[in-house]
Amino acid sequence: MELSFYGLLLSILFFHLSAFTHSFNSSLQLRCHHDESLALLQFKQSFIMSNPCDYSFGLSKLESWKLIHGERGDCCSWDGVECDYQTNHVVSLDLSGCCLFSSINSNSTLFRLVHLQNLNLAYNDFNYSQIPSQIGLLSSLTRLNLSRSDFSGQIPPQVLNLSSLISLDLSYNYQVKLHKPSLRDLVQKFTNLKVLHLSEVNISSTIPDSLANFSSLESLRLSYCGLRGEFPIDIFQLPNLKILDISDNPDLKGHLPSFELGSLLKSLILFGTNFAGEFPSSIGNLAYLEYLDFYSCNFTGLLPSSLGNLTKLTRLKLTVSTTSSLSWIGKLSNLKTLSLVHVGLNGDFPSSLKNLTQLSFLDLSYNQLVGPIPSWLMNLTKLVVLFLDHNHFSGQIPSSLIYGARIQVLSLSSNQFSGQIPSQTNNCSELIELELSSNKLRGSIPSTLSSLKNLQILNFQSNNLSGVVDANVFFQLKNLDRLMLSYNNLWLLTESSTNATIPNFIYLGLASCNLSEFPHFLHNQYELKFLDLSSNNIQGPIPSWLWSISINSLQSMNLSHNFLTGFEEGPGPLQWASNHFRHWV
Ligand SMILES: *[C@@H]1O[C@H](CO)[C@@H](O)[C@H](O)[C@H]1NC(C)=O
Ligand SMILES: *[C@@H]1O[C@H](CO)[C@@H](O)[C@H](O)[C@H]1NC(C)=O
Ligand SMILES: *[C@@H]1O[C@H](CO)[C@@H](O)[C@H](O)[C@H]1NC(C)=O
Ligand SMILES: *[C@@H]1O[C@H](CO)[C@@H](O)[C@H](O)[C@H]1NC(C)=O
Ligand SMILES: *[C@@H]1O[C@H](CO)[C@@H](O)[C@H](O)[C@H]1NC(C)=O
Ligand SMILES: *[C@@H]1O[C@H](CO)[C@@H](O)[C@H](O)[C@H]1NC(C)=O
Ligand SMILES: *[C@@H]1O[C@H](CO)[C@@H](O)[C@H](O)[C@H]1NC(C)=O
Ligand SMILES: *[C@@H]1O[C@H](CO)[C@@H](O)[C@H](O)[C@H]1NC(C)=O
Ligand SMILES: *[C@@H]1O[C@H](CO)[C@@H](O)[C@H](O)[C@H]1NC(C)=O
Ligand SMILES: *[C@@H]1O[C@H](CO)[C@@H](O)[C@H](O)[C@H]1NC(C)=O
Ligand SMILES: *[C@@H]1O[C@H](CO)[C@@H](O)[C@H](O)[C@H]1NC(C)=O
Ligand SMILES: *[C@@H]1O[C@H](CO)[C@@H](O)[C@H](O)[C@H]1NC(C)=O
Repeated sequence: MELSFYGLLLSILFFHLSAFTHSFNSSLQLRCHHDESLALLQFKQSFIMSNPCDYSFGLSKLESWKLIHGERGDCCSWDGVECDYQTNHVVSLDLSGCCLFSSINSNSTLFRLVHLQNLNLAYNDFNYSQIPSQIGLLSSLTRLNLSRSDFSGQIPPQVLNLSSLISLDLSYNYQVKLHKPSLRDLVQKFTNLKVLHLSEVNISSTIPDSLANFSSLESLRLSYCGLRGEFPIDIFQLPNLKILDISDNPDLKGHLPSFELGSLLKSLILFGTNFAGEFPSSIGNLAYLEYLDFYSCNFTGLLPSSLGNLTKLTRLKLTVSTTSSLSWIGKLSNLKTLSLVHVGLNGDFPSSLKNLTQLSFLDLSYNQLVGPIPSWLMNLTKLVVLFLDHNHFSGQIPSSLIYGARIQVLSLSSNQFSGQIPSQTNNCSELIELELSSNKLRGSIPSTLSSLKNLQILNFQSNNLSGVVDANVFFQLKNLDRLMLSYNNLWLLTESSTNATIPNFIYLGLASCNLSEFPHFLHNQYELKFLDLSSNNIQGPIPSWLWSISINSLQSMNLSHNFLTGFEEGPGPLQWASNHFRHWV
């Protein structure tokens, strides 16, 4: 009895268990609508997976897209796909960064997924096809993201059918046009937008005033869209706006409003616009601001010290306004990027920068700063890029700036630095660009420069450097492509002592380097754009090989002020391909 009772119980249990697993199993398989998994698979198959491709961060998603037993697949469990809990229709498709490559056309099976609410095909390559007008069939879309996906042509008017959109990102499709329909048409239709990103889409119009009525708008990015006219000032006051980027629209005019407390703005990016007028001290009310970029705007007046209240700032870039003092800047201790170009800074190197220990990018060029570079600058241990050019700095150049382990870009050109170029060896140097032109440096060029293995740009032009310098010091720098030594008192030896490969130069400034013949290494230079051999002692005829160097790239060659006596063979037709080619003989 007992045994059979338990046997019965067990078999009932077993029955229930297997029924449960069975239904679990089949409900999993059945969840996805068959036509939708087919549509997705056909969509996948219409592409060539181009790997390597520019962006492959989503590539692995498509591996899970398979049929089971050759016929059914649960698309709801595929990576990048989401289904509605109740209807099991596909409501979200995210194939961003999947290396999809192919044109897309109106019969793509994508447009059968009419329940889609979220579609992200960003960072793929649609081979500059047009956005198909069938996009209008996906009328449930709330989020559409086609950024950086190589579309072209006019955005189809059917897009206006997507009346539920709250997020639209078509940015970085520089061949896409929003002319007809226009930005105005779009804005009339999509009044609930929270996110509108159209950077690098060709808009070429004014910004409609009605955008200032978008009380839900959180993020507006319209960089490099060919915008013109006056920027509607009320947009700054939108209650939910966090990100505003209208940079790189040189014909866009505007003024800053009086900012009120309570604004949520985090990013305010206006560089490369024609914004002008006074810089309001109410900027200090933008308590959440992290990112302020007014580079190459046209503001006037004094920089307000209330900027010192923006303690969340990590990036501050300003030009053209003037400043009386930078005492406030020490409070911005989170700054990583600081650019104060042409803001009338004078006096010594501002000691208030001592506090900015997070700085990695510092640009104080085009001011009137004087005196030496303070030794505490080396205590800003995160500094990677330092522009101090076009000031009146003097004294010696600290060795650690050149040979230290961190700095990648150092520009000290057009100052009054004197003394010698420091000499030291450091094989860990990260320096890529060294600009020391137009100073008062004297003495010889140290051979330890050849330890700066990453150098690409070296500019010593217009100093008082002297002595014999062996070009092999530079030839050892395999990445060097711009070398400017003109206008010193150097005696340059250009014979390569070994058959070691010589870097491919793009820019060679060797004017006034006491050369007595055309350097032989030029024979094998194929990428030169600029070559200056003027004001040397080169004598005799111009050899015929000189007319065929860097045929596809050369734009400018200067041979003037030598002792040339004509041509070894007639120059014949000049072969250089560039339309810009200019030469002086
Ligand atoms: C579903 O059931 C089939 C056969 O009953 C089995 O082959 C398959 O592995 C099961 N799938 C899952 C996900 O359990
Ligand atoms: C890409 O576009 C070109 C020109 O329209 C076309 O010839 C080519 O077949 C397309 N390639 C793919 C993979 O769609
Ligand atoms: C889809 O369009 C292409 C080109 O317009 C055509 O070659 C192809 O046959 C069409 N496919 C279907 C299923 O209609
Ligand atoms: C607009 O969406 C509706 C469904 O809401 C659809 O029936 C219609 O075909 C769509 N129109 C266009 C032009 O895509
Ligand atoms: C669009 O997708 C890309 C890639 O996934 C992402 O970086 C970007 O933030 C998305 N845009 C929006 C508005 O969400
Ligand atoms: C934008 O489109 C217009 C008209 O087609 C064209 O003249 C202009 O060059 C385009 N601008 C850019 C930056 O491509
Ligand atoms: C903004 O909305 C208000 C009220 O809905 C309306 O009166 C006004 O005309 C709108 N402004 C613009 C520029 O569309
Ligand atoms: C900046 O903060 C100080 C107090 O820290 C306050 O007195 C001043 O009003 C603030 N300025 C602005 C413009 O917010
Ligand atoms: C800056 O504004 C002045 C007049 O205020 C104007 O002459 C100048 O062209 C503007 N600069 C730029 C770059 O727009
Ligand atoms: C330096 O930064 C700290 C916060 O990290 C701040 O409390 C202090 O006032 C700042 N010093 C100066 C001189 O601004
Ligand atoms: C730089 O830092 C070192 C130690 O990290 C310290 O001893 C020195 O005083 C600092 N120099 C300046 C000028 O702050
Ligand atoms: C460089 O190579 C050439 C032939 O390729 C050879 O004649 C010459 O001796 C070599 N020079 C040196 C310094 O190795």
